[in-house]
Amino acid sequence: MQNYKNFLSEILIDEETLQARIVEVAAEINRDYADVQEPLVLICILRGGMVFLVDLMRHLNVLHQIDFMAISSYGRGTRESHGNIRLTLDLQSDIRDKHILLVEDIIDSGNTISYVLEFLQTRQPKSLKVCALLDKQERREAVVPIHYRGFAIPNKYVFGYGLDLDEYYRNLPFIGVVDLEKYQPPG
Ligand code: IMP
Ligand code: MG
Repeated sequence: MQNYKNFLSEILIDEETLQARIVEVAAEINRDYADVQEPLVLICILRGGMVFLVDLMRHLNVLHQIDFMAISSYGRGTRESHGNIRLTLDLQSDIRDKHILLVEDIIDSGNTISYVLEFLQTRQPKSLKVCALLDKQERREAVVPIHYRGFAIPNKYVFGYGLDLDEYYRNLPFIGVVDLEKYQPPG
């Protein structure tokens, strides 16, 4: 495996900045859901949002459950999601009449999250909101509400902190930008 330092063009968001912002986002959620009586369920779309979910929930003081779902998308290239999105792992719990907060790593075109929102809405949750760590606004194709947003980022391919490069490097504690000319996919 290539050492990430060989293709890291810049650290876009360092660990300290990430963690400080996550505390702020958690505080917003704590405030907004403080008086909510019905259960809150954080739904993480595997696998990218996993690291963010774990750090975020450690700063929440509102009672909540977590659940997971996974989807796959097929399209023009592996670095873009287009059209054909399909559910590959369904939730374990029934979300009817519950307050749902979708926790996502990044919203790019917005196609994935709009598919997921439409799908979850059919199950009649009490409320449905979106919390995204990163927002690549420039690439948006679908209109999506982002109720809690960590950072707006430029149109660059990023990795680390849950986001992968060919399924690797999710463990890095920062958000880095890939130099695609230097990066060699594994295998
Ligand atoms: P969208 O459907 O175009 O909004 O894409 C959302 C999904 O694409 C995210 O959940 C990520 O899994 C993936 N993605 C988009 N941009 C990046 C990136 O810069 N790095 C890693 N994954 C990304
Ligand atoms: Mg993802």
